[in-house]
Amino acid sequence: MSATSFFYLPRVSVLGAGSLNEIGEQASRLARRFLLVTDSYLASTEVTSRIRRLLAERQIGLVIYDKVQPNPTLENVYEAHSLYVETECGGIISLGGGSAHDCAKAAAALAANPAPIEQYAGVDRFPNQGAPVITVNTTAGTGSEITNCFLLTDTKTNTKLIFEGVHALANVAIDDPKLMLTLPRELTAATGMDALTHAIECYVSNASFKLTDELARIAVQYIFRSLPAAVADPDNLDARDDMVYGQYMAGMAFGNGGVGLVHATAHALGGLYNLPHGLLNAILLPHVMRFNKRGCAGRYAELYAAIAPLQEEVQSAGNGADALISEVERLSRKIGTAIPLHKLGVREEDFEAVARKALTDTCCDTNPVCPVRSDIIGILTSAY
Ligand SMILES: NC(=O)c1ccc[n+]([C@@H]2O[C@H](COP(=O)([O-])OP(=O)(O)OC[C@H]3O[C@@H](n4cnc5c(N)ncnc54)[C@H](O)[C@@H]3O)[C@@H](O)[C@H]2O)c1
Ligand SMILES: [Fe+2]
Repeated sequence: MSATSFFYLPRVSVLGAGSLNEIGEQASRLARRFLLVTDSYLASTEVTSRIRRLLAERQIGLVIYDKVQPNPTLENVYEAHSLYVETECGGIISLGGGSAHDCAKAAAALAANPAPIEQYAGVDRFPNQGAPVITVNTTAGTGSEITNCFLLTDTKTNTKLIFEGVHALANVAIDDPKLMLTLPRELTAATGMDALTHAIECYVSNASFKLTDELARIAVQYIFRSLPAAVADPDNLDARDDMVYGQYMAGMAFGNGGVGLVHATAHALGGLYNLPHGLLNAILLPHVMRFNKRGCAGRYAELYAAIAPLQEEVQSAGNGADALISEVERLSRKIGTAIPLHKLGVREEDFEAVARKALTDTCCDTNPVCPVRSDIIGILTSAY
């Protein structure tokens, strides 16, 4: 029998090729002027002009904040929020991947909750509902466009702060695979491995339940099937479409069932070195799986059976788990994300500090095996 579980999602999701065309209709229900939160590259593209046109058709105004950095900072949020207030906007649209969505969701929360935002880090700490948010997603992906959390880098402490709760949900999420055709190979690979990590970590998380299990398992199937094609041929719209759904289901899963030690360690490394979140997950994933195997070999074997149904029946849970780890490594090599940590500039002398920080990350709480500092140092050493 199952216990009480909570499941959070935006009120509306619009998915599929061409779905950006719905933004005017969706926006018209929420506000008369929006702040677009994005980065300078995406602000210069045709997508931004299209959003402006689609809103103008409904007499909705648009103001642009285009300074979001990868691993967005607290400063990004304060700047975006100030512009939102100065220009009297009534809602926020994010355009981009997890960085734009996280910055936008945070600025929206700040619109109804007094600064400093740091005081709300943790679970369900915002007292008031923020401004309405529409997330237009362009990577596949973090799932941030639909999750009830956001992460901000505190550059004073080089730490990623996690904010979680119902106030971090967007009102509308738009996932149009046509917007992802321009995503370069390396970013397609890294963000796709982030989505795979969400699904695998959620499937073995202590907080998973029947609904997240089903979503995570199907997400793993979609991502194994279509990530290599999306990386090999960025113009392959069918593969992009599969990745939209794969990352969306992975987002639904982990947003409600949690992630684990891969994310805890990636957050610690990302805060310290400002490295791409997806790439760090891709590198750490097989090493953490090897560590976790003692606690969840059977669950890994189930996932292996889901992606390799025609393989001969695996002899034991241990074999199934090993086979899944090999498949993850093979995929990562194929798409170019199997890079040793030292090549990214990570320093061995920081391992202690990274391990200490990872242990304080809430993602550790849902990992199937409770790690100690030396375990994380072991994982970092094997990934080095
Ligand atoms: N809130 C959540 O649930 C959640 C989950 C996982 C990760 N995250 C956060 O998300 C962030 C990472 O997000 P991300 O991996 O999506 O990358 P990102 O948002 O940092 O974007 C990376 C780069 O990709 C470019 N880009 C994005 N879409 C593009 C497109 N269609 N064509 C060309 N270029 C494009 C951007 O301009 C940017 O330079 C991290 O800060 C991480 O902590 C949040
Ligand atoms: Fe992630």
